[in-house]
Amino acid sequence: MADRDRTTSVISEEELERQRRFVKRLQSVIAARYERKPLACVVTYGCQQNVADSEKIKGMLDEIGYGFTENRQEAKLVIFNTCAVREHAEDRVFGNVGALKSFKRDNPDAVIALCGCMMQQQHIADRIKKSFPYVDLVFGTHVIHCLPELLYRAMTGRKRVFEIPDMDGAIAEGIPVKRDNSRRAWLPIMYGCNNFCSYCIVPYVRGRERSRMPEDIINEFKQLVEDGAREITLLGQNVNSYGKDLVPQMSFAELLRTLDELDGDFRIRFMTSHPKDCTKELIETIANGKKLAWHLHLPFQSGSNRVLKAMNRHYTREQYLELIDYARELMGDEVSITSDIIVGFPGETYEEFKETLSLVERINATSLFTFIYSARKGTPAAEMDDPVSHEEKTKWFKELTDLQEQISAKQMALHKGKTYKCYVYGKGKLGDNYVASRNDGNLIIEFEGDESLIGTFQNILVTEPLTFVMRGELVKEK
Ligand code: 5AD
Ligand code: SF4
Repeated sequence: MADRDRTTSVISEEELERQRRFVKRLQSVIAARYERKPLACVVTYGCQQNVADSEKIKGMLDEIGYGFTENRQEAKLVIFNTCAVREHAEDRVFGNVGALKSFKRDNPDAVIALCGCMMQQQHIADRIKKSFPYVDLVFGTHVIHCLPELLYRAMTGRKRVFEIPDMDGAIAEGIPVKRDNSRRAWLPIMYGCNNFCSYCIVPYVRGRERSRMPEDIINEFKQLVEDGAREITLLGQNVNSYGKDLVPQMSFAELLRTLDELDGDFRIRFMTSHPKDCTKELIETIANGKKLAWHLHLPFQSGSNRVLKAMNRHYTREQYLELIDYARELMGDEVSITSDIIVGFPGETYEEFKETLSLVERINATSLFTFIYSARKGTPAAEMDDPVSHEEKTKWFKELTDLQEQISAKQMALHKGKTYKCYVYGKGKLGDNYVASRNDGNLIIEFEGDESLIGTFQNILVTEPLTFVMRGELVKEK
């Protein structure tokens, strides 16, 4: 592979080595402080990027010597990895942090730490400092790799530790990862976002776009496959702009083709794609791929060109439809389309909302992730007039979800009689002897089968589409 350079920064080897020294120091602290292996409870809010970050946090804690528990009552360290994308997510975190007060009273030697996108906002960190005195450590998204040092300071110093540097962000390679599931793996290929959609807080809390080097991604990918991963999801806020900071540049489609060529029995997924950077080349790559799931998560957010412009999305409804039509032209109904939609963006009228409904009718999505607009402090949209009441927006929202329910049911019916290569991921719910599998488009198909099939790919014939899952039959090889 060609030698590449980059225009974005990396965390130096010296800094990572410094952190490894803190790992050793913490090992001694822990041995002196606790009789038994202490347990950590890591709670993750929000998107898959946070899930991937938590897997790094757990990787570092594992090295330090922590075990893990989901029951915070038995934990010596509680970490909330938080999300800032909507107010509701933040309210939940505040509620749960509030509930930790009695936990700290009963377990004074336990450490409480908060991190993630919500904590990267100064006004939130200030509120934690003032109103939640029992929180020991708060750290932002750019210093996750410093967890050993920060935890050491929180455990041995007298002061609470708040570490929230405001920066563009850098890539830290070589952090250990402890994955929750060895068969379904999340693999970040880039971090940050440069798009500044006017409603979105992400670019402010996750810094600028920066891509991992292809060889780092490929090596981790190969290792995952060797360790038994069967479904690998490539992650990035906008994977379509992968490689723009590399010199020479590399397109996301090129990266996908390289991974698709690797040996092994696996399926590749990715998210999220921004329509403005989604190319026909990418759609062709998916259509021609051997192991690329025929699934395109392509959020359009609104069907109105005026609203899209106000959202700073840089594409029109017509351009979006062109992409969908091209995907259908190459892959027909077999390609699963999913999308994110925001209802009630500031100034959106009912007429404009109806344009979203008509776009939904047009694209036949398998499923939609729908959200009522939530004002985020510091974003341009939070300053815009927002005359429509929440009650009214809730009505629109219901109209949208009702419509999608009808479409999903129609979409499900289309699968009857079709056979799909499915990944069998666990026990089923339709009956004791059922196992559950997922096809390319993320549809769940359950069938009668032995548990020994879990972790393998099988061909499954859909016999009966139900509401959320489908019943199927194992197709025996002749
Ligand atoms: N309000 C509501 N939804 C939002 N999203 C992002 N920011 C906001 C906001 N302020 C939604 C978008 C995005 C998804 C991850 O969350 O639809 O695609
Ligand atoms: Fe937010 Fe837009 Fe970036 Fe997605 S592309 S993270 S919606 S700013």
